[in-house]
Amino acid sequence: MSVTETYPIRVELTKESKLSQVDFNDLKFGKILADHMLVAEYEDGVWTDVKIVPYGDLTISPSMSALHYGQAIFEGIKAYKFADGTVSIFRPEKNFERFNLSAQRLEMPAVPEEIFMGGLKKLLSIDSEWVPSVEGAALYIRPFMFATEAALGVHPSISYKFVIITGPVGAYYNKPLRLKVETHYTRAAQGGVGFSKNAGNYALSLYPTRIANDEGFDQLIWTDAKEHKYIEEAGTANLIFRIGDTIITPDGETILHGVTRRSIIELANKWGYKAEQRTVSVQELIDGIKAGEVSEAFAAGTAATLTPISVIGFEGQTYELPPVEGREFSTKVLTYLNDLRYGRVADELGWNTLVG
Ligand code: COI
Repeated sequence: MSVTETYPIRVELTKESKLSQVDFNDLKFGKILADHMLVAEYEDGVWTDVKIVPYGDLTISPSMSALHYGQAIFEGIKAYKFADGTVSIFRPEKNFERFNLSAQRLEMPAVPEEIFMGGLKKLLSIDSEWVPSVEGAALYIRPFMFATEAALGVHPSISYKFVIITGPVGAYYNKPLRLKVETHYTRAAQGGVGFSKNAGNYALSLYPTRIANDEGFDQLIWTDAKEHKYIEEAGTANLIFRIGDTIITPDGETILHGVTRRSIIELANKWGYKAEQRTVSVQELIDGIKAGEVSEAFAAGTAATLTPISVIGFEGQTYELPPVEGREFSTKVLTYLNDLRYGRVADELGWNTLVG
């Protein structure tokens, strides 16, 4: 069944493109938004009124429930441009699956594949000129959904808006990261919403992260809620370490299961590295660093791509990681992913979704 048969998309093109004002060599993350956005409404149990319209403000009610009770979820995806102009989206079906898992946990309706995937492809075919061709840059895609019912009672909203906005971005982090192990504040607990990509997970991170920033760190390493002994994620990205000969990423229901993280572990397995998704204690990491056994550490995410970690702070001490140059596995992964995303190697794994 095609998108147009089930959910016809009305298209209204902008009369004034902002494209000529963009300096593609100076892209700040999330500051520049492309000309169009996709908007769909959920009302009376059905998705309706799917449209691609000029990017612009949305009208909301002050009593809109997302503002009060936080039914709001999102995703982060990137599209790249090959040398021949082909636009390719990196594994969007994985984000689509995760989006609807988040929706389920927040008691929100699932977004149909035709609207999420079909709408995304149509939006990108309209705004294809916005996909940067500069190495290291990409079109960041932000699908999101929020509860729109004007009601102050605590109950699942009866109406929702699903929106996709996009914009060209460069690196989210432009230098290796200094991360502080957080042992007081908590991001997520067992049975909570840590695995979902909901707005609240980010709101709660801001105060502890600001404290860490004041102490000279870029971000936090979140630990488990119960004992603060086990490493979870960095909040804006997942974490991957190479300890001894093993590539290890922390696992569990309290962390976001990132598409980049998953891709890196899949590549490690494919290339014959020993790779493990498992519980990692802070002590194991610190002991490993002290013993010189942690040869690589990086943050992995759609926005972060693969950002090396240079320093880890724990209980008032800082621990230096080996120089970024010479990190064999992360260099190999980044080179491969860039070659794949910009269409320079064959897509053997089927990770590129082509637009057009
Ligand atoms: C992403 O990597 O796409 C994210 O959503 C992280 C965000 C906090 C920038």
